[in-house]
Amino acid sequence: MAEELIIEQSATKAEKYKSLLPQIEALIYGEEDVTANLANIASALKYGMDFFWVGFYLVKHDELVLGPFQGPIACTRIALGKGVCGTAWEKAETIIVENVDEFPGHIACSSDSKSEIVLPAFKNEKVALILDVDSDQLSDFDEVDREYLEQLIKLIEKFL
Ligand code: SME
Repeated sequence: MAEELIIEQSATKAEKYKSLLPQIEALIYGEEDVTANLANIASALKYGMDFFWVGFYLVKHDELVLGPFQGPIACTRIALGKGVCGTAWEKAETIIVENVDEFPGHIACSSDSKSEIVLPAFKNEKVALILDVDSDQLSDFDEVDREYLEQLIKLIEKFL
């Protein structure tokens, strides 16, 4: 396992993702423990992409429960259909929110969070977890984030 991530800070967002994804693949190679892998992925995304908050919510019974994350403390449980994460779980699709204040029912864990992208990962055709990435800037996520984070979700689904 590599001891540190190598990301060129002056690179474009797409270039950073392109460099980061193979490093994440190497980081989780040969490790099957879900918590260990999610913890390292959260750290790799936070420090590789300089995100404000990045973490996972795991589907447990009828709610989402906070899993490994990096950033300020966050709410621990989210019901189906609530907030952006609960909506992405219910719809089983990626959601990009340009301004969280305009998203009905957004759950404000931190008042500094301004925009976000939330993606579901599947196990046995059911949503098993949610990847939540928050920014302290408005409109910080776009189709580039969707493309590369959906590639990351495919890597995650291999060890779920
Ligand atoms: N933004 C999420 C809540 C989780 S925190 O932002 C970490 C939502 O509305 O689902």
